[in-house]
Amino acid sequence: MKTIFSGIQPSGTPTIGNYIGAMKQFISLQNNYKGYYCIVDEHAITVQQEPQKLRQQTRSLAALYLAVGLDPEKATIFIQSEVSAHAEAAWIIQCNTTIGELERMTQFKDKSQKNGRTGVSAGLLTYPPLMVGDIVLYNADLVPVGDDQKQHLELTRDFVERFNKRYAQPNQEILTMPEVKIAEQGSRIMSLQTPTSKMSKSDSNPKGYISMLDKPDVIRKKIKSAVTDSTGIIEYDVENKPGVSNLLNIFSAVSDRSIPELVEAYAGKGYGEFKSDLAEAVVDLLEPIQIRYEELLASDELDDILDRGAEQARLVANKTLQRMKNGIGLGRKPRRK
Ligand code: AMP
Ligand code: TRP
Repeated sequence: MKTIFSGIQPSGTPTIGNYIGAMKQFISLQNNYKGYYCIVDEHAITVQQEPQKLRQQTRSLAALYLAVGLDPEKATIFIQSEVSAHAEAAWIIQCNTTIGELERMTQFKDKSQKNGRTGVSAGLLTYPPLMVGDIVLYNADLVPVGDDQKQHLELTRDFVERFNKRYAQPNQEILTMPEVKIAEQGSRIMSLQTPTSKMSKSDSNPKGYISMLDKPDVIRKKIKSAVTDSTGIIEYDVENKPGVSNLLNIFSAVSDRSIPELVEAYAGKGYGEFKSDLAEAVVDLLEPIQIRYEELLASDELDDILDRGAEQARLVANKTLQRMKNGIGLGRKPRRK
């Protein structure tokens, strides 16, 4: 069986964008792959977090992984900071990555342009190597992510090639080459208020996103006030009708009806009816997830699963880390037992 790795930052409550771009893929792939699903709390601290809140959001994200349908019998679910190999691997990876490569990352460019180089942490620059470490430690073959992570996956592939070339014996490899897996549809869900920018859980305007824990009435209100246009025609045209196209993407992903099917069903109907049906489809998806989430959050089961997950993850991650160290020449050569 091939292996999957993916992660989500506990830097807020996941949005319907995280669900459609990432989590939905996790579920559909879990029967055919060995999966490692991580709550990447070390990534979240590249920007300052409130300690209590970070803890709470970390556990909450774990509960959501399970509530959407990840099965801990099939997949390993764990918290990044509970497996120390991640931070260790990240150091080795940073030393084999150039500053130039990291400065080219659009996420870094965007954030450092907004806040200035003195206004962002060094971790924001060196965060992609931490992500590379996440992926390589589990020998992942496939990494399901949203569109915004493509560039980080390219960096990962470049790194794996370089590392194997530098340190592996000829015709052998220390690290596995991963492939990116982007959702065919909904890989980039846009803000409901500014449909030309990505829906993000850290948006300062909560009307821009639907959180996976928003209550039904909040969901209905947010979708009702989503920005569209004045033509009143429901069609898919990202360039000229970004708002409606985004709603079609969301509708299609949450209902498993294709976009042409939806366009046909809503021909001649107004935005009001379209939005209200979309809101019900989102509520129908999220309500049962929220009920299961509340149960899990209150249970000991969740912590047992995370304890087991960290244990399983450590076994695999430490082995890869040791191979990396051996390759590079760190420490003493392990004695044959
Ligand atoms: P993050 O919230 O940045 O930790 O993202 C976790 C996962 O969700 C990554 O695979 C992202 O690519 C994906 N993701 C985040 N926002 C969106 C979005 N608006 N549309 C689709 N996928 C997203
Ligand atoms: N950087 C990713 C994001 O912000 C989260 C992430 C961290 C990740 N490590 C990963 C995703 C490894 C896939 C694989 O969305």
